[in-house]
Amino acid sequence: MITVIGLGFVGLTTALGFSEKGNKVYGFDIDKEKMNSISNKKIPFYEKGLQEVLKKNLGNNFVLSDNLENAVKSSKVVILCVGTPSDDKGRADLKYIKSALDSVLKNVGKEDKKIIITKSTIPPSTTEKEIIPYIKQKGFAVGEEVYVANNPEFLREGHAWDDFINPDRIVIGTNDEYTKIVMADIYKNFNVPVHFVTLNTGEFIKYLSNTFLSTLISYSNEMSMIADSVGGIDIKSAFKIFHEDKRWYGNPANMQTYAYPGCGFGGYCLPKDTQALVQKAEEFGYDAKILKSVLDVNKEIKPHWIDKIEKNVPKDKPLTILGLSFKPDSDDVRQTPALDIIKLLLERGYKNLTAYDPMANELFDKIYKLPIKYVDNLKDAVNQSSDIILITGWKEFIDNKNLYADKNIYDLRYVL
Ligand SMILES: NC(=O)c1ccc[n+]([C@@H]2O[C@H](COP(=O)([O-])OP(=O)(O)OC[C@H]3O[C@@H](n4cnc5c(N)ncnc54)[C@H](O)[C@@H]3O)[C@@H](O)[C@H]2O)c1
Repeated sequence: MITVIGLGFVGLTTALGFSEKGNKVYGFDIDKEKMNSISNKKIPFYEKGLQEVLKKNLGNNFVLSDNLENAVKSSKVVILCVGTPSDDKGRADLKYIKSALDSVLKNVGKEDKKIIITKSTIPPSTTEKEIIPYIKQKGFAVGEEVYVANNPEFLREGHAWDDFINPDRIVIGTNDEYTKIVMADIYKNFNVPVHFVTLNTGEFIKYLSNTFLSTLISYSNEMSMIADSVGGIDIKSAFKIFHEDKRWYGNPANMQTYAYPGCGFGGYCLPKDTQALVQKAEEFGYDAKILKSVLDVNKEIKPHWIDKIEKNVPKDKPLTILGLSFKPDSDDVRQTPALDIIKLLLERGYKNLTAYDPMANELFDKIYKLPIKYVDNLKDAVNQSSDIILITGWKEFIDNKNLYADKNIYDLRYVL
């Protein structure tokens, strides 16, 4: 049995979704008007398909509960779906979460092993740094008497029912086995991957998704403002034609390879073209803030990685660099991230560097003439040191990762 607290877009959809899947679900909202509307089988907002499922499930698998005591006592899992609006400083305001926790915990006994799930969107670290301490403060041992987890919701308004009932993936941020078992059971009928991740990762994934979308929109709007400044550009057609790029739709280099972290973009086109458009926009009186930040971040990511390496590797130790070209299957080393990274390592005092690239050793040496050693095969490269820095995601490096299984790896492309 499940109790859902907060019956807005997310909560009502969640409550009806779980009841449709065969669970007994109690729903509760502090908003009396909302409760009245739902009890009259009327959805208090418009959401396609939801009205019918409400009619079907209300009074059967879905029960409205004025009395939280009974609902919480009878439920194994309590799901919080209350709002998390911005506070006056732009932070996620947790007041509704805390007041919902107050009313839930009042009805929880220490022996109940109640699982409290936050489905509301909360910034990474909130469960660990705010929710768990709050529950502990109320006298409960978290992980023994009460269990907590987060379970971000990815539904889109307008498609809430469809997205909930046919999700792409389920994410559960949790630290404990008991919650995993119960949540795996609750989601067993959804036939999609259920990912159990750390508390912070669960929260982070939701923000990864939303900020990516907001960035794409602002990026597109910035481009439209550059176009307006330059003039003579048909913005609508330009974007429609841009969408015909096969990378939006699939192989070989689909958009996922771009929406992925690493150690920055390089090569002949992206750095110089981004730079050139920033300059051109300026000539036409437009300050391209997003594109400037894109270039700044591309610079920042390199010392960020070197800082991580520096924390673990003493300066006198040898280092192996895997990959010199700016991307796999290419020997192009123009503006390759490997150049910046090797230069930074040298600047910070790492003198014993060995590099190997399946195609780009000679070209890199010829153009940049850096004081490093080159070897012509992966095995020799790996044997040079116990610390390996992977800069280019060549297939050869991924296929032979057993060669450096016992080494310290800095996988700057997240491919291993
Ligand atoms: N709307 C979306 O498309 C969407 C999608 C994914 C995630 N989210 C997240 O889900 C959460 C809820 O969003 P929503 O759009 O459903 O909000 P909403 O405002 O429609 O619903 C929240 C409900 O919680 C109720 N509530 C507040 N405090 C309560 C308490 N102490 N006890 C019981 N009920 C209480 C409110 O009365 C309200 O009906 C937010 O964190 C939001 O960011 C929303």
